[in-house]
Amino acid sequence: MFAGKGGVGKTTCSAATALHYADSGPTLAISTDATPSLAHIFEATDRQKPARVLPQLHISEIGEREIREMWDAKFGREVYEVFSAFVDIEYEDFVEFMTSVLPGLGEEFMVDYIRETSQKGLYGNIVWDTAPLGQTLSLLETPALLGNHLKMAPRIYSRLKLGRRSREPVLDILKRWEELSAENMDFLRNAVYFTMVTIPEALAVEQLEGAFRELEKYGLTVKQIVINNVVKTEESEFLITKARQQQTYLKHIHEKYSNLKIVELPMFPQEVKGLQRLREVEEILFQGGIIK
Ligand SMILES: Nc1ncnc2c1ncn2[C@@H]1O[C@H](COP(=O)(O)OP(=O)(O)O)[C@@H](O)[C@H]1O
Ligand SMILES: [Mg+2]
Repeated sequence: MFAGKGGVGKTTCSAATALHYADSGPTLAISTDATPSLAHIFEATDRQKPARVLPQLHISEIGEREIREMWDAKFGREVYEVFSAFVDIEYEDFVEFMTSVLPGLGEEFMVDYIRETSQKGLYGNIVWDTAPLGQTLSLLETPALLGNHLKMAPRIYSRLKLGRRSREPVLDILKRWEELSAENMDFLRNAVYFTMVTIPEALAVEQLEGAFRELEKYGLTVKQIVINNVVKTEESEFLITKARQQQTYLKHIHEKYSNLKIVELPMFPQEVKGLQRLREVEEILFQGGIIK
């Protein structure tokens, strides 16, 4: 999983990493960003989901529609049956209501989808390109939020004095949701390798600390940092000044996170797009020691 604030290079690193894994086995790159760019960076022409980029590399961009479908398939009908006993609402409106009103529901299902995909075992590696950090972190709050929302349900039912027959399924559903949340947290803790992507600038470095703390709160540890856009040449006054300014932040990151694997990725004169440029990034990431 590649986390970090917007524009730092998460998609670039995810794509280069996926390319690397695809050399040795079937690999899936998943984007859960609301404005995904994996297809763009790979210059993919396949419109299938997942889309084939290379024989062993597929990409999948998960948007709101997919989330809704997943929720629908897994819980929608059951929850609706119980709710429709006392709320007169069409099924489509109900799904719309649930998926827009429950914060974190979408993110919960993104984690769930990735976990399920991983367990199906079709891919040797799954590379997960996340949304900008704020959104990604809020998914970690989801189990607690979900629990609170759902605790309301049995109370509502007992107040409405519905018979036992209708009350039990709600409790079953509640229990299953809690179990699912716990499974997803376990998956994040045990099966996901977190890489934080950042750039050597004041704001990005400041935000880094908070991001680490947030993840630690949930027992999630980042194992690696990629510092992107590092100026490595001093061919002009402009670049000399830029490189000098970056030194402060580079030093800070290396000192503060000396226990982690840190890879520096140079700033290229061109944007990173297409397989050839991605190969250049891959080479640097993996010679720099990105953990497989
Ligand atoms: N090392 C780099 N050198 C030059 N351009 C880069 C580099 N890394 C990323 N970019 C460009 O910066 C833009 C943002 O990168 P992207 O990976 O999409 O960031 P994020 O996914 O974190 O929002 C893209 O246009 C990408 O091509
Ligand atoms: Mg991105």
